This record gives sequence, structure tokens and C-alpha cells, in this order.
Amino acid sequence: MFEINQSATVGTLEQYQSLTSQLAALTAGEPDIIANLANISAVLFDQIENLNWLGFYVMKQGELVLGPFQGKVACVRIPVGQGVCGTAVATGEIQRVENVHDFAGHIACDSASESELVLPIKHHGKVVAVLDIDSPSQGRFSELDQQGMSLMLPLLESLNWDTYAK
Ligand code: SME
Repeated sequence: MFEINQSATVGTLEQYQSLTSQLAALTAGEPDIIANLANISAVLFDQIENLNWLGFYVMKQGELVLGPFQGKVACVRIPVGQGVCGTAVATGEIQRVENVHDFAGHIACDSASESELVLPIKHHGKVVAVLDIDSPSQGRFSELDQQGMSLMLPLLESLNWDTYAK
């Protein structure tokens, strides 16, 4: 069984890089994207401190649909342009929200969420999914966390999206 060799919580760029390498090893040679996204969400939720929800929303026929995640039951469909996730798709830009209550149109799936980091995942030049990370603490995600999570984008974007996103 694959073992993640991280014990301390992730915080520095080196730790994010190490976690990225471990995710690459975990998914290497496995073509099933749902299995890979499920394991990636489990590892990230386990290794990153102070989260209440972490998971993927995947583009299907023009809207985001809930994918593999860790946390409480969540909204299933999010239109492009709505909420933090839909804004990440519409703009193609990472959304780092210090206080979700200040974000016009924020969609409260889990009322515990106070801050949020959403990374758009691109494949063949278009957004195919987002990685949504929610914390119960305001201002949980720093510029450093954003940079650290961005280190994972090449790996996330290299997954077998053609078999999942439509
Ligand atoms: N808060 C998100 C919706 C997804 S849940 O947080 C899991 C948003 O505003 O897009």
C-alpha cells in the first residue's frame, strides 16, 4: 500500500512540493481519473490543516458537477459564473477568498466554510474542473498557500480529463 510520508502539516513551498511529488507517485500509471481524484482529495484533506471541505467540481455540458471530495454533503451543480467555483471557471483565475461572506454570490454548501481557495484546472486550453478548498477559519489561505497549491496544477492538469469532463 502506498504510504504518504508526511507527518507535519503542509505550509512551506518545500512541503507543498514534497506533497506534489507524493501525489505524482500515488497516481503514476493509473489511468482511472476518478480513482486518482478520489485519492488526491483524501491525501490533501488529510495533510492540509484546518479544512472542512476539499474536492473537485468537473465541467459537464457547460456546468460544474460535483466530483470526488472529502467533507460534508455538497451542492451538486454550480453554473459557470456563480459562486467562487463558477467564478474560477469564468475567469480562468485562482480565487482566494479571505472571507466568503464578503464574496458576492458565494454558495454556502457547508455553513462552516469561512474562507476558500479555488484553483481552475485546464486541459487542452480550457477549464475542465476546479479544486475547491474550504476552511472554517477566515483568512486561512495565504499567498504562500496559493503558490504551494499551484505547484500541483501541472500534475492535476495531466490527468486523464478526456475520459471525464465533457
Ligand atoms: N462555496 C463554493 C461552493 C462549493 S462548496 O463550498 C463545497 C462556491 O461558492 O462556489
